[in-house]
Amino acid sequence: MKNAIIKIEHMSKHFPVAGGKFTALKAIDLTFQKAEFTGIVGPSGSGKTTLLNIIGSLDSQSEGDVWVLGKSVKDLNNWQAARLRSRHIGFIFQTYNLLPYYTVYENIEYPLLLLKIEKAERKLAVNEALNWLGLTDKAESRPSQLSGGECQRVAIARAIVKKPIIVLADEPTANLDADNSHHILQTMKELNNKMGVTFIFATHDQKVIQYLQRKITLLDGEVSRDEITGERS
Ligand SMILES: Nc1ncnc2c1ncn2[C@@H]1O[C@H](COP(=O)(O)OP(=O)(O)O)[C@@H](O)[C@H]1O
Ligand SMILES: [Mg+2]
Repeated sequence: MKNAIIKIEHMSKHFPVAGGKFTALKAIDLTFQKAEFTGIVGPSGSGKTTLLNIIGSLDSQSEGDVWVLGKSVKDLNNWQAARLRSRHIGFIFQTYNLLPYYTVYENIEYPLLLLKIEKAERKLAVNEALNWLGLTDKAESRPSQLSGGECQRVAIARAIVKKPIIVLADEPTANLDADNSHHILQTMKELNNKMGVTFIFATHDQKVIQYLQRKITLLDGEVSRDEITGERS
């Protein structure tokens, strides 16, 4: 398994709730290879977001082991987890999470500032990402001046500008119409093909599912199916 970039072994997640604990993920065993284009599907409440958050070290498991890029995430302190995220993992959220007072350019540049990349190199990378996502004309606009589809394209550009190894996308098409959803999926598929970026989606959108190469179905916090549904790029 030399290309395994994420390995999850017998992992469970409990949340404290009034009167005890609620088990959101139960004994998950999964391995992800580099350059996968994979969806975690299942009904609302099945544990998709919880699983993505643990893979992205935004949350930690209760039991079992999770390795991301060779590191056991439970052994990372907050600073090390933040460094793993900022260097290697891009996040795309359903609600975009753009900075409202910043321009499109500045929103996309932000992850590179965190990485202390110097100005000329930032400019090259931001312009490349703007170009990829068809946003060059919108560089000086602010999020409030954009459509939902454009905001999601900015969020994708921000997630990929640092050329991460893994992109985690939580319901990325939930607020988009069909045309915008297909455009965004085609763009992500192209990034996956050309740059070998690994994409893991949480979704219950059929439009996303038809693009997937692998589909993992969660039901009540358990993996109920794990199937290859398309060609590997
Ligand atoms: N912080 C929390 N405290 C208690 N329960 C939670 C918390 N986060 C999620 N849950 C519960 O865990 C289950 C899985 O949630 P989630 O991962 O958000 O599912 P999905 O993304 O598939 O809709 C749900 O029943 C949800 O209510
Ligand atoms: Mg969710």
